Amino acid sequence: MLNREHMPVSSQDEGEQQLYIEDLKNRIYGKGLKYHIVTYGCQMNVHDSEKLAGMLSEIGYTETGRQQDADLILFNTCCVRENAELRVYGNVGALKSYKQANPNRIIGICGCMMQQSEVADYIRQTFPFVDLIFGTHNLHRFPQLLLQALDSNHTVVEILDSEGAVVEHVPTKRTQGVSAWVTIMYGCNNFCSYCIVPHVRGRERSRRPADILAEIQKLAEAGYKEITLLGQNVNSYGKDMDEQYLFHNLLRDINEIEGIQRIRFMTSHPKDLSDDLIRAMAECKKVCKHLHLPVQAGSDRILHAMNRKYSSKYYLDLVEKVRKAMPDIALSTDIIVGFPGENEEDFEATLRIAEKVRYDSAFTFLYSPRKGTPAAKRRDQVPAEQKKQRLARLNELINGICMEKNQEHLGKIKEVLVEGPSKNRKDVLTGRTDTNKIVNFKGSPELIGSLIMVRITEAHSWSLEGEIVKND
Ligand code: SAH
Ligand code: SF4
Ligand code: F3S
Repeated sequence: MLNREHMPVSSQDEGEQQLYIEDLKNRIYGKGLKYHIVTYGCQMNVHDSEKLAGMLSEIGYTETGRQQDADLILFNTCCVRENAELRVYGNVGALKSYKQANPNRIIGICGCMMQQSEVADYIRQTFPFVDLIFGTHNLHRFPQLLLQALDSNHTVVEILDSEGAVVEHVPTKRTQGVSAWVTIMYGCNNFCSYCIVPHVRGRERSRRPADILAEIQKLAEAGYKEITLLGQNVNSYGKDMDEQYLFHNLLRDINEIEGIQRIRFMTSHPKDLSDDLIRAMAECKKVCKHLHLPVQAGSDRILHAMNRKYSSKYYLDLVEKVRKAMPDIALSTDIIVGFPGENEEDFEATLRIAEKVRYDSAFTFLYSPRKGTPAAKRRDQVPAEQKKQRLARLNELINGICMEKNQEHLGKIKEVLVEGPSKNRKDVLTGRTDTNKIVNFKGSPELIGSLIMVRITEAHSWSLEGEIVKND
């Protein structure tokens, strides 16, 4: 067992990691080993899993879609809400029989959940068959940790409690397709009172502009058409660096990269959505006219208790400003119901703000107390049944609005980036409008990766149906 809790991550780790990859490569050469990664949580985790897959591919492992065929099973976990954690516990428990069937199989657990030391301890004690546990700050050290796990009879544990420098050049195995994720910053400084993310992802660290631009240039050369920039709060990009280079500067530079046709980003905190950024969004042709702007609640009292640092009036004024600059922009949001102390009046304020903004889509959540956050300590927790009833009322309202907004598209012709075949329907392709609406339509697979014009023929709450009118 090993613990490096107080050792900072340094850029030296970049070169070191390659040596371990080489070491492992020789060791597993010719064995035909396979890996399977299960990912929970947000896009940031999905992209982290692409890095884990990238390191494994370089080592010589191949991917398998079947857990039972894998020589290495890795769970990349999320702890943003309790149900995410419960799913992990259940599914890790189920791995015991796999380990018994093949004791050489390596089982690893990483990600946000492991970054909470009591959870990592619990996993180690409850599931002693787990070979490897590591957190979010040392993802790039996976090759060295895997090497140790292969040689050890005990669980190898490495959780760092400080984030250290940003580590570049981690091999990445991206999901093939037209879209690629690019993390532009790590961590969060906001400490919303309900949220565990800053506790498990550390403080904000921006990647250097040159590194981001070089990565996107390469993606463009590799044929990717759409880039989604990731960060817990992308619009505070650059504020932790000395250079006077902020998110709007980055958007403008990416807009110039040949081959990239669409730029998306998430997530934006309303308090950091500057006029410069709104202007850059409006002026850059490739920046999609879709903004994910989490509101979380409509009551000023609750917003204050959530430490969101804005009022409902500020939020509504911001929406107006954004719509004035980009009249057709689609807005989506995150909303939490049942935050401690939320009464009927507060909840109605949330319904009202959703009605006023008329979101194109919304992710709605039951408040889930997270250990270590201020809101979890409050005595005035809302009873579970009440939370559920409120969520159902909110969802009914939102689904109705989303349906109406989608119906406004009927008969219109929209530009769609074709992403791939529909998952469940033969001869049907799927793509998105720049406003992030999913559109399904009949067409031939050669169209994948191109921008085409589609007439909208049918509207559902979460997607549209259409037919191709013109191939550009
Ligand atoms: N950084 C992003 C995403 C954070 S997590 C942002 O600020 O928007 C995604 C969403 O999960 C949050 O927007 C919030 O709506 C929800 N969330 C976070 N903590 C939660 C909790 N304890 N209970 C319920 N929902 C939560
Ligand atoms: Fe969590 Fe708030 Fe940071 Fe988003 S901005 S990750 S909700 S603390
Ligand atoms: Fe979950 Fe971590 Fe993302 S807690 S939501 S996977 S940053």
